[in-house]
Amino acid sequence: MAWIRKDLLGLEDLSREEIELILTTAESFKEISTREIKKVPALRGKTVVNLFYEPSTRTRVSFEVAAKRLSADVINIATETSSVRKGETLIDTGKNIQALKADIIVVRHNCSGAATMLARHLDISVVNAGDGWHEHPTQALLDIFTLKEKFGRIAGLKVSIVGDIAHSRVARSNIWGLTKLGAEVTVCAPKMLIPEGIEKMGARVTYDIDEALKEAEAVNVLRMQFERDEKAAFPQQLEYFKQYGITTQRLKKAKKKIIVMHPGPINRGIEISSEIADGENSVILEQVTNGIAVRMGVLFLVAQARDNNGGNHTD
Ligand code: CP
Repeated sequence: MAWIRKDLLGLEDLSREEIELILTTAESFKEISTREIKKVPALRGKTVVNLFYEPSTRTRVSFEVAAKRLSADVINIATETSSVRKGETLIDTGKNIQALKADIIVVRHNCSGAATMLARHLDISVVNAGDGWHEHPTQALLDIFTLKEKFGRIAGLKVSIVGDIAHSRVARSNIWGLTKLGAEVTVCAPKMLIPEGIEKMGARVTYDIDEALKEAEAVNVLRMQFERDEKAAFPQQLEYFKQYGITTQRLKKAKKKIIVMHPGPINRGIEISSEIADGENSVILEQVTNGIAVRMGVLFLVAQARDNNGGNHTD
């Protein structure tokens, strides 16, 4: 199949075939990062702008590395020192970046739907690097890519997502992506951190961490997002670690070869112990490395779609 979307806004909208196309494109790009000269000319002459309204280490750097490996020019906009501080709207900022003849905007924003709104107003490509609680598609794609590398398949795989599901765009994108590819997804957290209706997305819910880990082949551990907890509903940090933290003791009850994932940044001693984060079951840094190939794949596909017929708007 051919990729026809000018944007990547979320995994909810994508078909199984589209997700698989991104994964196979990423596979073909992974080897480039092992070369002595880690560069191919696929996006030579294109300009990628990273527009981040929220802090980021992994996603921003990963998009920059991915774009540079494809020979694109990259511009990073720090919103705290840009005209956003003078009241410029997201749409006006986007239109100005388009007028400056950029080809792709990678946007992270604290409002759910921000990337979709931007994409509707622009002819250039928009890639969602995380919008509020909504979606973080490239994080889920790199998680799925890592699972596929480890297990050789996604269909039938038992994946548990543990932690702050309520505030997590990573959880939402993972549930959409994994269930479309046939994985069995369980989400686990204290009741106050599970959003109502999550079962409708295809995930099973449990509040019992031992049950979530018992049959799981992989556990994706999520950060407690204290900065988004307006209602101060979170349990005490130490209490959370005692009841839900991923520790050596707890993993003794899981499958010996369970793999432990985390999108980062990690809160050591809150959702995961250092022993597990740095231990033999952990693939956390492999996820980061795989993020480059996945983002190379995404940038390549959206740029190609736009070159062919301008690319389809997502909605
Ligand atoms: N996983 C992730 O989105 O990390 P950053 O916030 O550092 O980009």
